[in-house]
Amino acid sequence: MKQIDLGSQGLRVPAIGLGCMGMSDFYGSSSEARNLGVLDRAADIGCTFWDTSDMYGPFTNEILLSKALKGRREQITLATKFGVARGEDGSWQGLKGNADYVKASCDASLKRLGTDYIDLYYQHRLDPETPIEETIGALAELVRAGKVRYIGLSEAEPETITRAHAVHPVSALQTEYSLWSRDVEAEILPTIRRLDIGFVAYSPLGRGFLSGAIRSRSDLEPGDWRLENPRFTEEAIAENSRLADVVIEVAKEIEATPAQVALAWILSRDVAAIPGTRKIERLEENWASQDITLRAGHLDRLESMVDQGVVGDRY
Ligand SMILES: NC(=O)c1ccc[n+]([C@@H]2O[C@H](COP(=O)([O-])OP(=O)(O)OC[C@H]3O[C@@H](n4cnc5c(N)ncnc54)[C@H](OP(=O)(O)O)[C@@H]3O)[C@@H](O)[C@H]2O)c1
Repeated sequence: MKQIDLGSQGLRVPAIGLGCMGMSDFYGSSSEARNLGVLDRAADIGCTFWDTSDMYGPFTNEILLSKALKGRREQITLATKFGVARGEDGSWQGLKGNADYVKASCDASLKRLGTDYIDLYYQHRLDPETPIEETIGALAELVRAGKVRYIGLSEAEPETITRAHAVHPVSALQTEYSLWSRDVEAEILPTIRRLDIGFVAYSPLGRGFLSGAIRSRSDLEPGDWRLENPRFTEEAIAENSRLADVVIEVAKEIEATPAQVALAWILSRDVAAIPGTRKIERLEENWASQDITLRAGHLDRLESMVDQGVVGDRY
């Protein structure tokens, strides 16, 4: 199993983790029994870096994980997030990062997760109204109180990352990174490398698109959030399909699956990835991407496809 050090404070995780968001929100319907089956199997095979957030569901994804954590809490590296406030009814209530909010969110997440510590606690999005020093100060207090082991940021800019890290060591930055979302390479990755902060790639399968399984909007269930995403208009899907086709071609050549190729490319960058799935067979498929090494020619072909341009913004 490939492992990655996130930061220099001692957090070491499997390079392939499990994104749990889609089990409760955004990507269509799911069943709790099936989700718990995926989480059980993940624990069995060593895919023990689990990613959630209070806003997935909202709240229900953490409750789902609490059920899967029973009897194996120590075995799992549990990451959750705060800062994108939602009501019980799913309504959006803005970005919040003031000290009282951070502490109250942590206590609420601990309760829902049925645990007394979070391994990695991320600020999900920056609160433009609160200085990052206040947010990180509150996180540092949570570390001192033993409620949080390591802290992280998500989708933060270099200046924020640098200011945050000066208050308390940041172990990980989680941001979208995949063959069709490489903008972090310009400034973000050099910043975190310089500061010795780890990187966790979210949506490493391009929200499923790079697997080649999404060829039309009709491949998505009504209500799926991707139907509102600029990369999933009918036109963008048609244009971007040539990207997925290159991934499929490479996969055929090396007798792997397209999802495995997309993940092997991410792993070639020495970062951790948290692909999401609600299916045991896909969990196993994604986990097996660690056994694949892409040759230079394949990497060049995959990367040059992005240079030809991606249609649609990430959000
Ligand atoms: N920090 C943030 O702001 C942020 C934002 C987005 C996501 N995240 C985190 O990152 C995790 C992963 O991102 P994501 O779920 O957006 O995108 P992703 O991992 O790129 O793709 C997930 C999608 O791909 C499908 N899929 C998974 N494995 C597959 C395979 N082997 N073959 C074909 N299709 C496959 C899944 O469908 P099935 O479920 O049907 O298998 C799902 O629709 C999330 O779960 C969440 O924890 C964080």
